[in-house]
Amino acid sequence: MKDIFDECRFGDLDLKSRIVRTGTWETETEEGRFLSPAIFDRYERIASSGVGLIVSEIFAMDYKDRFSEYSSNLDYRGFIKDYRMITDICHNNDVPILGQLAFFYYDDGDNQKAEANDLTLEGIRKLQAEVIVAAKKFSFAGFDGIQINMGNNFYLARFMNPYFNQRTDDYGGNTENRVRISSEIIKVIKKTMDMHVSCRINPWDVRKGGMTADESIAIARELEKAGADSIQLTARTISQIYDKGVKHPFLVYVDDLIDAVDIPVVLGGSLREMAKINDVLNNSKVEFVSMSKPFVAQADFLADWKRDGEGTAICYSCNNCYSKKTSTCFKHG
Ligand SMILES: Cc1cc2nc3c(=O)[nH]c(=O)nc-3n(C[C@H](O)[C@H](O)[C@H](O)COP(=O)(O)O)c2cc1C
Repeated sequence: MKDIFDECRFGDLDLKSRIVRTGTWETETEEGRFLSPAIFDRYERIASSGVGLIVSEIFAMDYKDRFSEYSSNLDYRGFIKDYRMITDICHNNDVPILGQLAFFYYDDGDNQKAEANDLTLEGIRKLQAEVIVAAKKFSFAGFDGIQINMGNNFYLARFMNPYFNQRTDDYGGNTENRVRISSEIIKVIKKTMDMHVSCRINPWDVRKGGMTADESIAIARELEKAGADSIQLTARTISQIYDKGVKHPFLVYVDDLIDAVDIPVVLGGSLREMAKINDVLNNSKVEFVSMSKPFVAQADFLADWKRDGEGTAICYSCNNCYSKKTSTCFKHG
């Protein structure tokens, strides 16, 4: 029987539970973009609650990027100092932490919004170099690894999606080529740094001519081949639709993905009840699950679950934390 509080290996990392606090922007930076005391307090409460792994909020490479207003930027003045303290908080609680890099637009020097089809080879090399430097910055700040967000509609997700990428060179066409920009980045990071590399990817895409579930699995295999240590799926709601008798198509897809790769896969989205999460763990091949909004509503709720052997998050998914872009809970403060 699997239980969310099982201690387990996650690639090269040791986790105290199967729960990943997934990327959630913080916003509470003070004048000059230093982290506010509330954030240190939040990390302490999350890290000491029984969580297995923490993924930071989005860090962008460019202040012009889409979510920069609400999240952090790798170049802000206090990055190394602040995040050395954050990563220390996690490590003092024996919890590893990954820094998340996500960018929506890419400025190649000529074009502030160069899309996949526009990038020259020099532009590709510039982008790759910037992501590799970002990984190095995360390592200076004490992060155990980097999570590169290649999901949702972020830049690298569009780059690997045949709907957006019609390149005719080595970076377009078949799956291997569309993933190459990311594979080459991963190879360099793995060769030059002692960093876990996690890739957040989409299960599929609703666009006609976009990414299918089979394609998503093929992408995960390419990323694994390049050296990725884990895969995290962008959210797809499963808790309400999970039924012990009938396996939802999303769980079938996840099982197929887990069969296809030899690295850990993290599943998440609308998971709120300990019993239901344990049901998912024990009726599928899923071993790791992620949560975001429940930690916004109550940073240390996992401590209650661990003590009581059961529990339901007080978050009822109103999504106001997302809509308001403040990552504070509308109902619970
Ligand atoms: C306030 C808020 C901030 C978020 N910030 C990020 C982020 O920085 N990076 C990311 O990959 N996802 C982000 N997400 C998406 C979550 O990681 C997660 O996929 C989504 O909320 C669904 O999971 P949940 O139902 O457990 O909240 C954010 C979500 C919320 C509500």
